[in-house]
Amino acid sequence: MAISTAPLTITPLHPCLGARVEGVDLSRPLTAETFRRVADAFDEHSVLVFHDQRLTDAQQKAFSEQWGPLETTLVSPGKEGRLDPKLVDLSNVDPDHGSALMDWSDRRMMYQSGNQLWHTDSSFKPTPAHSSALSGREIPPVGGETEFASMRVAYTALSPVEQARVEGKVVVHSIIYSRSLIAKDLFDPEQARALPAGRHALVRANPAHGRKAFYIGSHAWFIEGMPYAESRRLLDELLALTTAPERVFRHVWRQWDLVMWDNRCVLHRGRPWDSSRYPRIMRRTTVAGDGPTADPPLADPASLPPLD
Ligand code: OGA
Ligand code: MN
Repeated sequence: MAISTAPLTITPLHPCLGARVEGVDLSRPLTAETFRRVADAFDEHSVLVFHDQRLTDAQQKAFSEQWGPLETTLVSPGKEGRLDPKLVDLSNVDPDHGSALMDWSDRRMMYQSGNQLWHTDSSFKPTPAHSSALSGREIPPVGGETEFASMRVAYTALSPVEQARVEGKVVVHSIIYSRSLIAKDLFDPEQARALPAGRHALVRANPAHGRKAFYIGSHAWFIEGMPYAESRRLLDELLALTTAPERVFRHVWRQWDLVMWDNRCVLHRGRPWDSSRYPRIMRRTTVAGDGPTADPPLADPASLPPLD
């Protein structure tokens, strides 16, 4: 019997980044040919949107593992010992109190609200993330969109002189730094000690096609070898350039969307919603990157600037 399959189609969604992929069922392993086409679209468009993918946790993990081993997720405050360490559970439903909704004043939600700062996943780790796949399990009727911006497109907007200025620089990234922008006491001192700062190249190239991007985001703390204030200014300028409104692709979620993005060259942020009123339940799988993006080792931690 002939098996009829819908053709795979890839439709760009924004001039800078993002494409919709149709005609593929992510609950089953992709054929080598389909994987190649999806992977090429991913390297080209940086964010892929797949609608109507009713995935179980196991299927979502299997989908992401086609790109490489999954990261083990940081245990966030209030989430100790929950769910699978290979899945990030983003939810405002309080697991300790039936189906009660947590609002933004809850410490666990304050931690999650870090996702509303422009960032790239796991940039604070020694091996940062290659990609993330986020599955929309329950979507609020208003708000809760996710926005994306391309650090590769922004890099190409720099003049040659500006490109030369960022080349070869190393940025120190820290989640203690980024979360300190939200509240001072989100990590207890023991958790904080287990999370040393990571160092990453400010300019990275995608090995598949060699196109360069800079690599910043909320965890990017300072640039080594530059006065702190000057490095903050440069990081803030690059962030503003990347996330200028006309360069932002906004994804409005439907239930069972699966959105995959390239953490090597994309910044993203979640948008707020009325968390005391509407549940929002998302699951994330995160593919680990190939390894550290900058050598040599971190300078003496005593030389890190103070957090104020
Ligand atoms: C993430 C993230 C934003 C959102 O899952 O890594 O930043 O909109 N999510 O939930
Ligand atoms: Mn994220």
